[in-house]
Amino acid sequence: MSHTFPPLSGAELEQTLGRIVGAERVHMDADSLQQYGLDRTRQYTPAPCAIVFPEQTTQVRELVLLARRHRLAIVPSGGRTGLSGGAVAAQGELVIALERMNRILDFNAVDRSLHCEAGMITAQLQAFAQQQNLFYPVDFASSGSSQIGGNVATNAGGIKVIRYGLTRDQILGLTVVTGQGDILQLNRGLVKNATGYDLRHLFIGSEGTLGLITEVTVRLMTPPENPTVMVLGITDMSALMQVLEQFRQRIEPTAFEFFSEPALQHVIRRGLARPFAQPAPFYALLEFESRHESIQAAALAVFEYCLARGWVLDGVMSQNGRQAAELWRLREDISETIAAYMPYKNDLSVRVSRVPEFLAAVDQVVAERYAGFEVIWYGHIGDGNLHLNILKPAQWTPEAFFRQCEQVNKDVFAIVRRLEGSISAEHGVGLLKRDYLDYSRSPEELACLRAIKQLFDPDHIMNPGKLLA
Ligand code: MLT
Ligand code: ZN
Repeated sequence: MSHTFPPLSGAELEQTLGRIVGAERVHMDADSLQQYGLDRTRQYTPAPCAIVFPEQTTQVRELVLLARRHRLAIVPSGGRTGLSGGAVAAQGELVIALERMNRILDFNAVDRSLHCEAGMITAQLQAFAQQQNLFYPVDFASSGSSQIGGNVATNAGGIKVIRYGLTRDQILGLTVVTGQGDILQLNRGLVKNATGYDLRHLFIGSEGTLGLITEVTVRLMTPPENPTVMVLGITDMSALMQVLEQFRQRIEPTAFEFFSEPALQHVIRRGLARPFAQPAPFYALLEFESRHESIQAAALAVFEYCLARGWVLDGVMSQNGRQAAELWRLREDISETIAAYMPYKNDLSVRVSRVPEFLAAVDQVVAERYAGFEVIWYGHIGDGNLHLNILKPAQWTPEAFFRQCEQVNKDVFAIVRRLEGSISAEHGVGLLKRDYLDYSRSPEELACLRAIKQLFDPDHIMNPGKLLA
């Protein structure tokens, strides 16, 4: 048990933090507090006490020990691209920003592994892998600003999960500083390691509630060959599932995404071109490796088959990398485009086989309870992950709008519970979904989660109020 000291005054805090990380690495000005106290959720008012920018794991440890002594809450901060309030500091917390810990520590071509600090930007990691003729497969629209440590803390998913898996599946090792102040090196880059509980996996998806991730080792893969994109107009969601099944039987997609016509209209208004003239209620975007002509021919044969069954209305296939990238933008730009409308975001999942049943039930609730609101559907349908976004009408205040949406949550989450799905497929629980966790986790599971938290963070200083109440 650590000894508790009284809270520090602002000046004492600044001095003490400065002794650990250097005075220039402590920010307490209003702009920094505003910027580093928020993620991409917009319904919280940032109010951290200070922001620190450590450069080494040992400094992070010193900060945790200081926080333990003074019972100071810590919020770990990566690229703050999260959508669930996991990196929000609204209660006088100390924000530990990892952005200066962004170095590559080791690349090993034999192991096909990259060991780097947690503040490395995801897109830079991807670019480094590419320079070595290798590939880091976890990808999403915000990879240009998100950091690998944050990806691990939220077990980021994105657009290639159907083929390559989640962030969890890429992690060979982690260095973490627990809420106790211990430095743990977990799994050390091994492929095989059957020595009992794998603590690495507890930290993946822990949302900063057990400690801070300071170093990450990821595995790298063979790059995809000639990635080719098809966008198809689809009649309805049950047809979409048939199309998915047909394509998966004949080719192995590296992505299978969907979006609705209202979602497409938003990105078109921002300057993108329609994929083809005839509008459709829904669109599928699939990507596959066109390694030789027979694969492309198989994809076209599936397309013809789906067209003949009336599931698909029209379609287009990229002929080169530039066209593939343009088609991807139709899907990837949706989130940023609708952000201006302060959407109420739901990030739901069920087993893929249950998607049609799930959608029919959610659709009914949405039509009844969100009548008059603009509903935007998109997501990673190949993973059973649907993003349901409700746009705030201009005349509604944010407070009234979010209150209204929270009432509907319960109906939507009841369906999730009935179909044994998840209330957060990939965005995480953070503050936003915390009070609904029991829709996806049993009381026994929640008791285990709390016991684990207690073990690693006995003083409850690590991102308090996130994930668990
Ligand atoms: C996406 O799939 O575009 C991301 O999860 C972001 C979002 O849902 O808005
Ligand atoms: Zn997503």
